[in-house]
Amino acid sequence: MEQLKGLILSGGKGTRLRPITHTSAKQLVPVANKPVLFYGIEALAQAGIDQIGVIIAPETGDEIRSAAGDGSAFHVHLHYIVQEQPLGLAHAVLTAQEFLSDSPFVMYLGDNLLQGGIVELVNSFRAQQPHALILLTPVSDPSSYGIAEIDSGSPSDARDVGGGADLPAGPCVSRRVVRLVEKPQDPQSDLALVGVYMFSSAIHHAARAIRPSRRGELEITDAIQHMVDSRLDVRAQIVEGWWKDTGRVQDMLEANRLVLDNLSARVEGQLVDSTVEGRVVIEEHASLHHVTVRGPAIIGAHAVLRDCYIGPYTAVGERCTVVRAEVEHSILLQGASVCELDGRIESSLLGRNVTVGRGAQQPKAYRLLVGDNSQISIP
Ligand code: DAU
Repeated sequence: MEQLKGLILSGGKGTRLRPITHTSAKQLVPVANKPVLFYGIEALAQAGIDQIGVIIAPETGDEIRSAAGDGSAFHVHLHYIVQEQPLGLAHAVLTAQEFLSDSPFVMYLGDNLLQGGIVELVNSFRAQQPHALILLTPVSDPSSYGIAEIDSGSPSDARDVGGGADLPAGPCVSRRVVRLVEKPQDPQSDLALVGVYMFSSAIHHAARAIRPSRRGELEITDAIQHMVDSRLDVRAQIVEGWWKDTGRVQDMLEANRLVLDNLSARVEGQLVDSTVEGRVVIEEHASLHHVTVRGPAIIGAHAVLRDCYIGPYTAVGERCTVVRAEVEHSILLQGASVCELDGRIESSLLGRNVTVGRGAQQPKAYRLLVGDNSQISIP
């Protein structure tokens, strides 16, 4: 098979993560203190793909370029491709056509996280060489995703991975795809399309053949359906392990929890009269005085923590400040501060340089300076 390329989709609007994404690309929101996007780049690199196109939007593209650079930090080459408007995932493929040329490629949605990477899946694609290989996982809310119906009969053919001498054996049984629908109102299956797709160059013809959907986008789901209708070989595999689309705050917190669960403990910062329990990472130049950290948790570089409690599943970003407060199951982006609180901050996502604290003035009253579409719940 011709050399595989990668295509990471890092454009779009990020409306569901506002207000965080008013000022920052959603693909750069950190999970366990690392931008979501970097997990995708690392997954492609691990699968041996080193030429990667990155779709960016005009509004957030510069920020993504400066975060990921030329790719050398990941031992890959990143090629940035501006998509002037977020007209859909299939439109992104058409936008990248010059970069992709006729090569087969792996398309990875920049806000998705897949446990265990994609090495086995890519090996499976290389071995079977279908026109498209999609990944599916059962979900409880199928109308929020692209949904696929698969042939419930026997696996698509005998060439399923596990038989190849130099391929790792794995549970990669692929099924023939019968029908796909994007965010159906009346779902006929609970198998959602995971944001990692493998395509031969046949996808370009399909992407050109389809029309915009009701939401005005060229849907990759419709392009794949076009391939099915054209009797091309479209297969699906069920993903092992967890998968997260981090498009919403709850999913972001859940992804953070899942990644922190696999943390290896490491303490490089300075601890004074402090207790660290369980799997905890404390980055260099972080300083903790009279602090209890109960893992899994990560404390970023140059964070300053005093007289506080950091509970499980918390990621405190670089240069954050937490003083006389309690934080649990939350993500604090860099520079955020939480000071002098009576209650505990829980299941929260605080944006960059956000300040949460109690004022000293009387009478006791809430004084707020809050961006558009923020959510604050006061007990
Ligand atoms: O996460 C899996 C789901 O992703 C699939 O189940 C759906 O079938 C698929 O359509 C997609 O749905 P979403 O509504 O979640 O896609 P979203 O608009 O969030 O875009 C996914 C990524 O692609 C995100 O990083 C932004 C980027 N993007 C999106 C559009 C519409 C682009 O780069 N360009 C675009 O035009």
